[in-house]
Amino acid sequence: MKIYVPLDSAARALGADQVAQVIAAEARNRGLTVQIIRNGSRGMIWLEPLVEVDLGQGRQAYGPVSPADVPALLDGKLSSLGPVEEIPFFARQTRLTFARCGVIDPLDLTAYQAHGGLAGLHRAIGMGSAQIVQEVADSGLRGRGGAGFPTGIKWKTVAEAQAAQKYIVCNADEGDSGTFADRMIIEGDPFSLIEGMAIAGIGVGATRGYVYLRSEYPVAIDILNRAVQIARENGLLGPQVLGSGHAFDIEVRVGAGAYVCGEETSLLNSLEGKRGVVRAKPPLPALEGFLGRPTVVNNVISLATVPVIFEKGAAHYADFGLGRSRGTVTLQIAGNVRHGGLFETAFGATLDQVVNQIGGGTASGRPVKAVQVGGPLGAYIPVEQFDTPLGYEELDQKGGLIGHAGLVVFDDSADMLRMARFAMEFCAVESCGKCTPCRIGAVRGVETIDRIAQGDPGAIELLTDLCDTMRDGSLCALGGFTPYPVMSALRHFPDDFATQKEAAE
Ligand code: NAI
Ligand code: SF4
Repeated sequence: MKIYVPLDSAARALGADQVAQVIAAEARNRGLTVQIIRNGSRGMIWLEPLVEVDLGQGRQAYGPVSPADVPALLDGKLSSLGPVEEIPFFARQTRLTFARCGVIDPLDLTAYQAHGGLAGLHRAIGMGSAQIVQEVADSGLRGRGGAGFPTGIKWKTVAEAQAAQKYIVCNADEGDSGTFADRMIIEGDPFSLIEGMAIAGIGVGATRGYVYLRSEYPVAIDILNRAVQIARENGLLGPQVLGSGHAFDIEVRVGAGAYVCGEETSLLNSLEGKRGVVRAKPPLPALEGFLGRPTVVNNVISLATVPVIFEKGAAHYADFGLGRSRGTVTLQIAGNVRHGGLFETAFGATLDQVVNQIGGGTASGRPVKAVQVGGPLGAYIPVEQFDTPLGYEELDQKGGLIGHAGLVVFDDSADMLRMARFAMEFCAVESCGKCTPCRIGAVRGVETIDRIAQGDPGAIELLTDLCDTMRDGSLCALGGFTPYPVMSALRHFPDDFATQKEAAE
């Protein structure tokens, strides 16, 4: 009998380790031969710990499983959810990037290959650099960290730069509120990231890669370090990647917990051992990045998607999507929502489909008031705009951004003035201090919102003016995008900004 118990941080937080321990003890007591496989998460957080039992005729899912459920689980008396693939939340997905996540033991390289792993790298090795870069361009892949810049163009810039040394830097400093896709794929399928980085290295002529991983993810740090070691031992990394003549190796570096270090130039400074302060662009990191050398800086999901593009072909990937947003988006549904988790789907699903049909509405059962898309710098989108399809341009037209594809749901009890204040306060705390509109503006923003709360009507105009200055004058996205949540809250929920004043009158 095989029993799969996730080792993912979210599953662990909900008791997966205790469940695994009780299964092992109970099996020992009963004299049962049970192989416990610690897999990644299938992404349905409300069902975690989600345990799968395989008696030789396919995997049956159970969840959420508590330690007290284990005797019934082993007796075959616990009510089953059926195969994971038939659970509606899962069945509706198109899993390309996350195809293996939750299916295999994340550190089992043989299982990785049995599920399509390394096929992409083998194919890339048979192509020249220009062809690799063209394949990525043809796939339509855009940066999944948030900005949506075409990955193929970024790789081309680095590939064509003349330098003795180039680098691949993976941005795994996943700091957006409500996001966890980077963590989930590293914990559940780390070889996909390693393979993607190796393909990038061969494509642009870089021999060294760094993963900048946040200290808040200890499980991911441990798994990725072990995966890198296994990759080296099996010739996937090293002086001859899979015997190809291309050298590529990876080092995992741990950040110290600053949100702004997710901004690529700040990240590069931190990686070089300097203070995590934003650098002005140009020069672009693609030309002068890590240690001043041409550097590809890509998000985890961008790089972990590269293997499937090479395995199945650029056309297959580009076939999914909407407009200029090609392929799949790995939505992270969080906040006050019934069914939260990781949902991979082709670009184009509407917010209504995601929040109400897939997410099942709010966990509180109250009406949905808004969803914040794209992390703490993303706009609050009201239900009246829930017909908006998820795509880079489509959200931009609504004054929002898809960002790292995190969605945080709020019910009608949310006070949007408080949320706007939180956005400004977040910016004030996390600002690197390099430019004035952000460093001073965010502090003044908090004060101005407090004045609105106290009933000062003139403060609304001041806040609008301040947001314009921050948007137009800030050096990076932290100061430049904080006006999105603030102004969207003000625009769509004016009553929340009038409450205190009216109460005073
Ligand atoms: P950006 O628009 O300045 O740059 C996007 C990327 O394209 C960068 O890597 C840049 O170096 C590259 N690039 C631009 N022109 C290029 C060219 N001609 N050749 C080669 N490369 C080129 O955006 P930025 O500041 O890097 O990112 C902002 C985004 O980050 C926001 O949309 C926000 O959603 C997101 N974000 C994500 C977070 C997360 O946790 N994943 C946290 C905070 C923000
Ligand atoms: Fe630093 Fe803020 Fe300016 Fe960005 S906008 S460079 S975080 S001060």
